[in-house]
Amino acid sequence: MDAIDLLINRHSCNQLISPAPSGEALDNIIHAGLRAPDHGALTPWRFIITEGEGLKTLSRYFQDAAFNLGKTEKDVLKAANAPFRAPQIITVIARIEDHPKIPESEQLMSAGCVVMAMQMAAQAQGFNGIWRTGWFAYDSHIKQKLELEDKDEIVGFLYLGTPDVSCKKIRELNTDSFVTRMDN
Ligand SMILES: Cc1cc2nc3c(=O)[nH]c(=O)nc-3n(C[C@H](O)[C@H](O)[C@H](O)COP(=O)(O)O)c2cc1C
Repeated sequence: MDAIDLLINRHSCNQLISPAPSGEALDNIIHAGLRAPDHGALTPWRFIITEGEGLKTLSRYFQDAAFNLGKTEKDVLKAANAPFRAPQIITVIARIEDHPKIPESEQLMSAGCVVMAMQMAAQAQGFNGIWRTGWFAYDSHIKQKLELEDKDEIVGFLYLGTPDVSCKKIRELNTDSFVTRMDN
């Protein structure tokens, strides 16, 4: 797939079935993530690849977190079902360090770039997915269960798999609405 074609036609897919990326395809996805722009070469990222029985474990973490937050029975069930929306989830974590020159926001942006690079690498290889956060990304119980460090931030759960239906509904945006020029 041509690079410009991939960039212009990147899109998410939320109806995902097996197979999930594995072997070389998954390795390419991880490597694409590791090429995210990284001010100061801090490598402020960690990834948790969850699939198979791991999705059941994540489901339990989500369910317990929802229960702890006093959510309704319906929402507790919704939380428990959330991880099963794809055969694989890559949790992308910004492992933020205190740095004299590189603020937290830049480390977070770098981790955000990881998610998009991974999604595009998946799409380039015939897979796809969707970047999700929701309250799960900010919940302390879930972060603790995933054994994250205090300053770690979950920037996204990248749900990955094989598109079950055609997902290519790309919003048409006019470049003129976003661009101004300064050429003198
Ligand atoms: C930081 C971040 C968090 C997101 N969280 C969610 C989410 O929790 N649920 C969701 O349906 N979409 C979420 N999205 C949006 C989707 O990833 C996706 O971009 C959106 O559905 C539009 O589809 P497109 O990527 O094909 O344009 C999030 C996007 C970003 C950047």
